[in-house]
Amino acid sequence: MADYDFDVLVIGAGPGGYVAAIRAAQLGLRVACAESRETLGGTCLNVGCIPSKAMLHASEYFDAAANGTMAKMGIKVTPELDLPTMHAQRSHAVKQLTGGIAFLFKKNKVEWLKGRGSFVDAHSVAVGDRVVTAKDIVIATGSSVAPLPGVEVDNDKQVVVDSTGALELARVPGHMVVIGGGVIGLELGSVWRRLGARVTCVEFLDQILPGFDGEIRKESNRIFKKQGIDFRLSTKVTAVSVDGDKAILTVEPAAGGAVETIEADCVLVSIGRRPNTAGLALDKAGLAANQRGQIEIDHDFRTGVPGIWAIGDVVPGPMLAHKAEDEGIAVAENIAGRHGIVNHDVIPSVVYTWPEIAGVGLTEEAARESGTGTGGEIKVGKFPMMANSRAKTNHEPDGFVKIIADAQTDRVLGVWAIASVAGTMIAEAGLAMEFGATSEDIAYTCHAHPTHSEAIKEAAMAVQGKAIHV
Ligand code: FAD
Ligand code: NAI
Repeated sequence: MADYDFDVLVIGAGPGGYVAAIRAAQLGLRVACAESRETLGGTCLNVGCIPSKAMLHASEYFDAAANGTMAKMGIKVTPELDLPTMHAQRSHAVKQLTGGIAFLFKKNKVEWLKGRGSFVDAHSVAVGDRVVTAKDIVIATGSSVAPLPGVEVDNDKQVVVDSTGALELARVPGHMVVIGGGVIGLELGSVWRRLGARVTCVEFLDQILPGFDGEIRKESNRIFKKQGIDFRLSTKVTAVSVDGDKAILTVEPAAGGAVETIEADCVLVSIGRRPNTAGLALDKAGLAANQRGQIEIDHDFRTGVPGIWAIGDVVPGPMLAHKAEDEGIAVAENIAGRHGIVNHDVIPSVVYTWPEIAGVGLTEEAARESGTGTGGEIKVGKFPMMANSRAKTNHEPDGFVKIIADAQTDRVLGVWAIASVAGTMIAEAGLAMEFGATSEDIAYTCHAHPTHSEAIKEAAMAVQGKAIHV
């Protein structure tokens, strides 16, 4: 048997890669992880989930003080924005968490290879000036911002930026135009709207948040409009030109029609992300990316080449940190000869706006179309947050919970929520679905009072037509 430097080499130290490396080391394997960034944690910890949530959390407080929510509770304050301090607490969170992964690597004896990995052959990878060999290699190189043809992002100038630039703006733009009404556009658009920017969101489709349940998309759109975000739906941006510190966007109806221009102080390009495979020299390992630039895998995360595995944003599926992490654990267990499994039907999605928007499982549209379950019939139960005692007391009236169940078996097929803490509430729904729960199982589970989660119980009761508080 060949003598390898490592049992496992992971390329990329994002939530997929670093978790795979740590789990493989826990299982007794000799592990190295190559990372081209200066710090560990990937997109998520450095320029994604964590810094965006730091800005969302801080700006939420600012907004509560500025928009009268605090005054309603008898707290009179006039907030003053100290943006450098807000950015400093964001950077501090990133530094602490990325440093935490370096500590975990040491603790678990994962060797951190600093540099960009590039295949030499199916068992050898060049990292910097070193070539290392491994019996198994996990590609976890993640994704990068998808460019918009004809639009040049320059994060340093802070006029046309991507998500990384939008996290670090040195001043609040007068008018920010967000291209793309997806997760990044709504989260980062919300941050700058709360801090005082006028925000316009240009979305190609006829509704924001593709992939989410139809009613949730419509209601979210209504709530964001109420908060002051201006939407230009069914509209495409065809060009952006920069003149000093201003940008001029050329837009037209998605179906074609009259062209207009919009002036902005800052343009955020957030039209999706694409997998990182360039520079990996996949061909030297006998691999190729598919037409969407992704690496195809089987149910066990194996690529077409024995000994090479792939996980996270670089493979087909939702680009989410928790999905990448779960795949990291599962791939390590499979490499170690165990049975790592990820149930891709039960991956929650959360938009961390105010209120939060969350879902797991099928949308109502998908459940109806797919004819899921027995006979394809479904039942839907809904409960408004307005009728939830805790949300009402906290001045959080917006949103609802919706449960979709199979009409004959009552098995829960999907749960969707708009609520201040929907991201936390959705974990219960995921657990219930993982255990194959019926809506009745949820309805007869005692939920603490007064909590937002009681809205999930009531929505489950509404599936049977017997919600109490509406
Ligand atoms: P990544 O995190 O992208 O990590 C891959 C790593 O590999 C990178 O550090 C990269 O430098 C490195 N790399 C690439 N090529 C090489 C190479 N050849 N050699 C060595 N290293 C290499 N998801 C959520 O679930 N919740 C959120 O709240 C959330 N917020 C987000 C906010 C923003 C602004 C963005 C941009 C993304 C957000 N995401 C969120 C998505 C989340 O960040 C990704 O789904 C997640 O990071 C994917 O993990 P990964 O390990 O597959 O890849
Ligand atoms: P996205 O795919 O969520 O949204 C992109 C939006 O841009 C879509 O609504 C699309 O219709 C629109 N669009 C595409 N081309 C357009 C054009 N030319 N003009 C106008 N609109 C256009 O992508 P986004 O927001 O960039 O996020 C990327 C990824 O990062 C997502 O897959 C998401 O999963 C992940 N992410 C997750 C977060 C979370 O879990 N809270 C937070 C931020 C990002």
